[in-house]
Amino acid sequence: MNHIIESQQFDPQFIEKIFSAADALETEKKDVLNGKIMASLFYEPSTRTRFSFESAMIRLGGNVISTENAKEFSSAIKGETLEDSIKVIGNYADVIVLRHPEKGASQKASSVSRIPVINAGDGTGQHPTQALLDLYTIQKELGQIDAIRIAMVGDLKNGRTVRSLAYLLGKYKDVHISFISPEALKIGDDIKEYLEKHNTSYTESEDLESITSNVDVLYQTRIQKERFGNQEDYLKFKDCYQIDTKLVRAMKERSIVMHPLPRVDEILPEVDTDPKAVYFKQAKYGVLVRMALLTTLLESTQKG
Ligand code: CP
Repeated sequence: MNHIIESQQFDPQFIEKIFSAADALETEKKDVLNGKIMASLFYEPSTRTRFSFESAMIRLGGNVISTENAKEFSSAIKGETLEDSIKVIGNYADVIVLRHPEKGASQKASSVSRIPVINAGDGTGQHPTQALLDLYTIQKELGQIDAIRIAMVGDLKNGRTVRSLAYLLGKYKDVHISFISPEALKIGDDIKEYLEKHNTSYTESEDLESITSNVDVLYQTRIQKERFGNQEDYLKFKDCYQIDTKLVRAMKERSIVMHPLPRVDEILPEVDTDPKAVYFKQAKYGVLVRMALLTTLLESTQKG
């Protein structure tokens, strides 16, 4: 595997390998990426993805070169194309972690890159490494992925994490997905077609409360302000689903509340202390999963 671009590219064997490596990394210290350099090239803001990738690389003995605002602080501001930047950075690093506002940017970057490109979020496209850490969280917290019932809630039209996670869940047995969103923010037809092709059952609804007591995972997402053309539309949907302790208490005893973060006010802080709230743990698991990914990717590049 050279580049990480979209969730569809992972098969269950690869996912299992990454999860086993992540489990091992929880207790083992490994300096396997000594001498390797990761370039983190972020054209969009990030807290978790950039810091967890950088932390992962440093924990593995590697080094990091970074720009957290490539739009302004790289030569993009002078008019350099993404492709030219990628070709140049290939001379300075062993792997590129790219976040970009344009859907398809990572695919475009990988087509000219001689080193692996990892998609760290491309506009409304995908966020495959987030999906892996989301799946890892489900495995760790519930002990299984097959046969889970999951509600994905919020801005399903613009949220790339739900798209990537839905693609991954389509690879597991007897999973049921309830997509909960306002009509205007429904999940894309491409995802529904994929799920149908993979015999994964799903429903669509605007009503969160009626399914709360039936789900194993409640995956809440932020209304993506930055993807709306005008403020008025954003304000219309901003508070459409709010998770509070009353709602969490109505969930099954053995169930979890997840969120890729950042949150605004779609999960009230009062929920944070509930044992079902695993969103901060989820962010912590991100370091282990990204360590496992970097190791696998750079070791296979070395062999190749
Ligand atoms: N979940 C996630 O992608 O968070 P950041 O935007 O902070 O990286």
